Amino acid sequence: MQINIDQSRLQNEIDALAGYSSEPSPVVTRVVYSHADQDARIYVKGLFAEASLEVREDPIGNTFARWVGSDPELAPVGTGSHIDAIPNAGKYDGTVGVLGGLEAIRALQRGGFKPSRSVELLLFTAEEPTRFGIGCPGSRMLSGILTAEAAGKLRDADGSSLNELRTAAGFHGELRDVALTRGYYGYFVELHIEQGPLLERKGLSIGIVQGIAAPAGLNILIEGEGGHAGTVLMPERKDAFLAGAELALEIEGLTRKLGGTDTVATVGKCDVFPGAVNSIPSRLKMSLDLRDTDGSRRDRVLEAIGVAAKEIAARRKTKISLELLNADAPASCDAQIIEAVRAACDANGVRYREMVSRAYHDSLFMHQVCPMGMIFIPCRGGVSHRPDEYSSPGQIATGVLVLAETLARLAGGER
Ligand code: GLV
Ligand code: MN
Ligand code: MN
Repeated sequence: MQINIDQSRLQNEIDALAGYSSEPSPVVTRVVYSHADQDARIYVKGLFAEASLEVREDPIGNTFARWVGSDPELAPVGTGSHIDAIPNAGKYDGTVGVLGGLEAIRALQRGGFKPSRSVELLLFTAEEPTRFGIGCPGSRMLSGILTAEAAGKLRDADGSSLNELRTAAGFHGELRDVALTRGYYGYFVELHIEQGPLLERKGLSIGIVQGIAAPAGLNILIEGEGGHAGTVLMPERKDAFLAGAELALEIEGLTRKLGGTDTVATVGKCDVFPGAVNSIPSRLKMSLDLRDTDGSRRDRVLEAIGVAAKEIAARRKTKISLELLNADAPASCDAQIIEAVRAACDANGVRYREMVSRAYHDSLFMHQVCPMGMIFIPCRGGVSHRPDEYSSPGQIATGVLVLAETLARLAGGER
């Protein structure tokens, strides 16, 4: 079977999808359940229908587009990614896995392939934590790790609940029906941009992912005492911001001291109250994103941060509360999928390397449902989550070719 990727059609579709944004081009901002997200979904579902895929949506908008295989007894092969985009993002993160997955299916259809297992393309509802403060709510619910009860309590910064937002976006039904049974898929494989510089630096076309690092997310609330910036003398102060600043530096220090190369910590949000030039901060809200490929090492760092927070709170006469939002388990990719991707590269003369994913992806949660693997393609300068994020049409087409070949190997069928 000849697999021909229609590179220019795919690029046109990626460009068109980028037009569904709440900020003008080249910025892509597409927060889940926003107008931009809803319009983008209509566009993408139209493409699914054109490819004669059977489309269904679950109660939170995870969208499944199935190319029905010849053996309904066999569990399908899943592929796909997300189309939501953080504020001020680019156009390739996630979309390459959705539109590239679609082009992989179309290329196999054009080549006359008849899959034994169905091949199902997924568009996950939100991989980004932008709206609900927690990454991958869509695949997290599919995996059952985010329960219906916990999802029912999720709210965005404006206080709107996931329930209100998803129904307003047209997604109905019981949240408890979202979780997939284990083994629903035979395999799941996701194509994604690397979001790091390693492939480009080595001049390689494909990264075969061996495992995915996992995040722990925390909300940190620091309560001190406010007051007049001129009249309250330094020894009298209970400055919430300074306690937070010290904690942030301690987080960095502990991560370096107790962690390994793959242990990374980020305080990315910091909200000072009342936020006035001449007022001592009485309250501070901070976020912590702590990740590692080794879950127990990450949890040891987390524990040490808890101890440091208590010490800082006592010394600075403030109250520090840590709310653990998630502490996900890292995932290993499946040996059979890794082998299929390697064989797909070899069959097409594509140069690759093995690597870990330090960003998280929906595949981290699909790992709970079925064997999982990921295929990375290079992106310019390793840049991602920025409007200048870029992978060339040729680099994307190579990734799609390897994905198509991998799907064919995993699905089995007549070539
Ligand atoms: C995904 O967007 C991540 O933050 O790794
Ligand atoms: Mn992202
Ligand atoms: Mn992504």
